Amino acid sequence: MKQHHGKPLMVATAVEPDHHSLSNPHEIRVTHAKLELTVDFDNERLLGIATLSVNRQPGCPASAPLVLDTKNLAILKVWTRRRFSRKCAAAFTLGHPDAILGTPLVVPVPAGAQEVIIEYQTTAGADALQWMPAQEGKQKSLFTQGQAILTRTWIPLQDSPGVRITYEARVTVPSGVRALMSAEHKVSLAKNVFRFKMPYCIPPYLISLAVGDFAFRKLGRRTGVYADPAIIESAAWEFAQAEKMLETMEKFYGAYRWGRWDILVLPASFPFGGMENPRLTFVTPTLIVGDRSLVNVIGHELVHSWAGNLVTNATWRDFWLNEGFTTYVERRLQEALFGIERAEMEIALGVEQLLELLQRLPSSDQILHINLDGRDADDGCTLVPYEKGAMFLRVLEAAISREELDIFVRKYFDHFAFQSITTAQFEDFLQEHCLKLNLSAASKVDVHAWIHVPGLSEPHAEAKSSRLEAVAMSARNWANGETPLGAIKSQEWSTHEWLRFLLSMPALSSERMAELDATFHFTQQTNAEILHQWLMMSVRNNYELAFDRLRAFLGSIGRRKFIQPLYRELTKAPNGMARAEELFKQSRAGYHSTLVQSVQRLLANPSAMTTD
Ligand code: BES
Ligand code: ZN
Repeated sequence: MKQHHGKPLMVATAVEPDHHSLSNPHEIRVTHAKLELTVDFDNERLLGIATLSVNRQPGCPASAPLVLDTKNLAILKVWTRRRFSRKCAAAFTLGHPDAILGTPLVVPVPAGAQEVIIEYQTTAGADALQWMPAQEGKQKSLFTQGQAILTRTWIPLQDSPGVRITYEARVTVPSGVRALMSAEHKVSLAKNVFRFKMPYCIPPYLISLAVGDFAFRKLGRRTGVYADPAIIESAAWEFAQAEKMLETMEKFYGAYRWGRWDILVLPASFPFGGMENPRLTFVTPTLIVGDRSLVNVIGHELVHSWAGNLVTNATWRDFWLNEGFTTYVERRLQEALFGIERAEMEIALGVEQLLELLQRLPSSDQILHINLDGRDADDGCTLVPYEKGAMFLRVLEAAISREELDIFVRKYFDHFAFQSITTAQFEDFLQEHCLKLNLSAASKVDVHAWIHVPGLSEPHAEAKSSRLEAVAMSARNWANGETPLGAIKSQEWSTHEWLRFLLSMPALSSERMAELDATFHFTQQTNAEILHQWLMMSVRNNYELAFDRLRAFLGSIGRRKFIQPLYRELTKAPNGMARAEELFKQSRAGYHSTLVQSVQRLLANPSAMTTD
């Protein structure tokens, strides 16, 4: 068996079943994927041959077939093979399709066979893929988004975060574009063929691909940025602190284990702020605002190189292990790089949004170890795993001291490196390596309640930011008619302060909105974070002068965190439902499937408040 970092390639099977996979890793387990992909832009499809190394688990009957996850894939042919011998055609079958989970691909595996080879094509239903049309003389492009359960729409695999694999790929593209993957780049002799290798075992949702005309700038020894040539310089400026971030993280938690860390700036339809694909963070271009005020997002994705990519949630119930740890450490990183004030502002904004969400979220969705049986894995992606998870760690820190928590977290990353773990495994480890050593301090924290009970356990660490409080005060004073806008000293405000200013506003008349707009030019704002908040207010207050801008925003940006709440706000306005539907109809062709589905669910059931 191959060894990686002293750990066997195969790690202990997650003890809990993953309700979001139809595959059978407890019987036969995929350990490696060799992918040969051809990118067909004309037909918007990938042609693939996946060669999977498989391992029959001890005690598994010889008659048990391999079961893989697929969704909307066209499976053309399947073979099995013993190492160094000829491949034999396999009589595969497809099981019943499930609307959320997809269709199981069942392959009989004869005794001794170690490889399963699948020839397939993606279809128009490949939800992971977004095919971008060519714009003004530019090349077409493509990117993938695997998390949470979309990898099965472009690769037949055991698509569970509990099943870690290594992978290698050979990607053939048309001339004029390059392929990038979340893996090491290997030398290739042909200009239109790109080769990759990921030597560490990762969960399938982290396999990712982007194809396009990307320029590159070096940022530091191990860091760089890829982006459309038109924005590469501004991207390089915005993310110039990447190497420093990496060094800071290493001081906290030990060596970065993935080699390089590059950042890829995608088109504005990318549905997230960032995605932590190993070695190659994917980000939205809306982070490029010219003042580095949104670099917490790349910091967040970097932190996932420890929390999430090194130690991974075994199932999507355990998602808070990825995001709660990452959000906690993200603020620690901000504090180390930019000082406590900025970290406090980010914590305070996060806490405020969490408290607001908890008022309308069903109580069962307020639990960190959420039950997602029968639901889409995405339903668990609210602010709860992020902000409640981070708050739990801050409460722990306050109880046992920062030094003790740091020692524990570092031990946690080292102990479970390259493994996928459940919440129960985390709880045992916390008990053994933290709580037991700090008995009296730890007794102050109701760990069970934090993880398994809705709402917030008292006492929770109150986040205070004096800078944000001052901003909120000036907003209220203006809204009450006590001070004029001219008296507000906003010259030095960062994005955070502008957000706080807008979030502090009560309901306003169109005249009052126009007054704000005339002074601060919010409708012309180019920072998408601030503009988003302004448009939310504009919908709420029926400020029609901003509606053209709203239409343009919904039609040009696909970041779910911005777009979905705007549609929700629209559905609440008088006649808003019709307007929401009209705008969605106009914009949806430019959205990634993840966003299309979220908006569709929202429009079908506007009163359900399940997502953030
Ligand atoms: N891994 C997430 C994005 C994600 C979550 C994709 C669930 C699919 C399903 C990523 O790390 C993330 O949290 N991004 C945030 C960044 C933020 C919290 C700093 C985003 O996109 O807004
Ligand atoms: Zn994250």
